[in-house]
Amino acid sequence: MISEKSKQLIIDTAQVEDIVGDFVTLKRKGANLSGLCPFHNEKTPSFNVNPTRNIYKCFGCGEGGDPIKFLMEYEQLSFPEALRYIAKKYGIEIEETETSQEAIEERQIVDSLHIITEYAKDYYQKQMFETDAGKSVGLSYFKSRGFREETIRKWGLGITPAKKDGFTKQATDDGYNIELLRKLGLTNKYDSDFFRERVMFTIRSLSGKIIAYAGRTLSKDKKVPKYINSPETEIYVKNKVLFGAHFARKSIRNEDECIIVEGYTDVISLHQSGIENVVASSGTSLTVGQINLIKRYTPNIKILYDGDAAGIKAALRGLDLVLEQDMNVKVVLLPDGEDPDSYMQKVGRAEFKRYADEEAKDFILFKTDLLLEEVGNDPVKRAGLVKDIVGSIARIPDAIKRSFYTKECATIVGLDETILVTEVNKAVVEQAKIRQKEEERERRRRQNQSRPNSGGSYQQRGNSEPAHYPPMPGESDMPGMPQDIGWPGEENYGDTGQGMPPEHVEDVTPRRTSGDAFQERDIARILVSSGDKIFDPETNTSVAQYILTEIQEVLDHFDEPLYEKIARNTLEMLVSKKPITDKTFVQHEDEEIQTFTINCFSPVYGELSPGWEERGVILNTQKAPELNFTRDSVEGLQRFKLKKVIRMCSQNQERMKELGKDDVEQLMTLLRVQMKLNEMRDALAEKTNTVVYK
Ligand code: CTP
Ligand code: MN
Repeated sequence: MISEKSKQLIIDTAQVEDIVGDFVTLKRKGANLSGLCPFHNEKTPSFNVNPTRNIYKCFGCGEGGDPIKFLMEYEQLSFPEALRYIAKKYGIEIEETETSQEAIEERQIVDSLHIITEYAKDYYQKQMFETDAGKSVGLSYFKSRGFREETIRKWGLGITPAKKDGFTKQATDDGYNIELLRKLGLTNKYDSDFFRERVMFTIRSLSGKIIAYAGRTLSKDKKVPKYINSPETEIYVKNKVLFGAHFARKSIRNEDECIIVEGYTDVISLHQSGIENVVASSGTSLTVGQINLIKRYTPNIKILYDGDAAGIKAALRGLDLVLEQDMNVKVVLLPDGEDPDSYMQKVGRAEFKRYADEEAKDFILFKTDLLLEEVGNDPVKRAGLVKDIVGSIARIPDAIKRSFYTKECATIVGLDETILVTEVNKAVVEQAKIRQKEEERERRRRQNQSRPNSGGSYQQRGNSEPAHYPPMPGESDMPGMPQDIGWPGEENYGDTGQGMPPEHVEDVTPRRTSGDAFQERDIARILVSSGDKIFDPETNTSVAQYILTEIQEVLDHFDEPLYEKIARNTLEMLVSKKPITDKTFVQHEDEEIQTFTINCFSPVYGELSPGWEERGVILNTQKAPELNFTRDSVEGLQRFKLKKVIRMCSQNQERMKELGKDDVEQLMTLLRVQMKLNEMRDALAEKTNTVVYK
């Protein structure tokens, strides 16, 4: 593991303009830099890099963060991977903390496996480009399929000779460990080559490392399997890999769509023709792991089926999984006898694109049409079809989308909509129950696993990966679904010692519609942007200390969880005497807090023009709000308090209304409280120049 010290050094060294600059062309603009956003498709730059704050922010799509976040988002690296990237770039030597011998060995093995797969690619390419047999068989095969040389090199295509152990022998001669060769499936147990007389396709991880191979036979013999593949290893977990994902990810993000095809050659062919948002699931139906890979880039999937695909219906069934993940799925059926590769070579890019766009049908409607065609007028089969469709629709987490499909399908099938609605609702409940059971089982499994010595397995096997089920909007009253309960902790006004009502006070304002979010946001903004500044030099009080002392009692009365979280988090730091610095929130481990901070530092167009600092007029007469933090804090706090007091006033009035006529004593108490509250309110209103409508 990377030591805490190294981690901090790396984080402190990383300069956002260096890291982002590795991937995006940046132009200087005043104190900042800007460029075309790598996270969405744009023609005019709205992607900003602020070296002083060490953050980036896109005003177009909202992506923003620090150098680490950039690497994690753009390169899809894990946190430690991002740290290692930066360390390498700046030549920082990483100090590793004591890790178990097992973990060290495991990392060494993983590194070695990657080295060998890379070595194998060089070998297979050398065989193809530099031997006569290779040139006449392999190279000419790929060329006959219309692949250009640059394409062949980019995709790491190669060939294995007929010789029984050519690769294994060369590799062991070059000092590679036979055990690892076997582990990767490149060498079989008789020490011969596993891949023989085949053209080779390299399979890469999302970040571009070679993790496995597929070998296609050139033989016409039907008994010879067309493709054979590497086995699963530490570096190759099949159900989390999509062929082509590394080369496709940028385009998937830009196009906001991922095209899925069936074969390796389809992917390569479309990429070569300039359609690059294409991947293949390699002959199997999609898994949750693969869908989640796509989901990082886009919610939109378009599946291209071969025109003669016999198993389309079986494949369609597999797609319910995609619906469950709340993806938008379209399907395109290619003309009879064509696959994406052959069709592209036949009609060219423009026509291919037109076809794929115009023929794309929404998955559920496509499925309904297809099944309808099949069942004809047979009432029993028709009932089965309805059940099937209902099952698919019920999987969609979004209630609005569900009701749209219910309506559409009712029309197609010729069924009364209310009947279908009832069926779908029943299915939703059913599925939620099943899911609840599965989750319960999964929870128990994990509990068992986390017991010492029970040994969690390293690798996910098969499709057993637990699916992630987002809550269904509008269904919070369903069994097992998270309940949208009100904001807890409204009981404690009486403890503020400021003449607040002593008894339990019900909050009459529903959480979502309450209007205190602005003032709470202000408090959170001040904390993250100037919490570290000195508010009062005489007592050496920081802004965070000042604010939190003042609002400590009302921490339970925040409406917005995020702002409350920030306030509590800051308070914890103060209590535990952790220093708050200008980096604390920008580098915060809680992503929500980090994002909020970055947004605070990156005013959106319109709120504050990004060029404001260059405009002398403002600069001469007015300090930037973030420099004016003392006034900012005092005023922000007053506005916040005013809001809370106004609410208490109305709550108290409600209580008075509810009192029975005879309850004079209680009424008097509340009246006194009301006067006190009114006083506080008016004083605050005057200070903040606010008119309060009574
Ligand atoms: N596949 C496999 N094993 C097989 C057959 C197919 O793994 N025995 C997978 C491969 O990922 C293949 C995909 O299924 O790419 C689609 O199969 P197919 O259409 O037969 O292969 P293509 O890649 O289209 O190959 P070609 O165009 O050369 O026929
Ligand atoms: Mn094909």
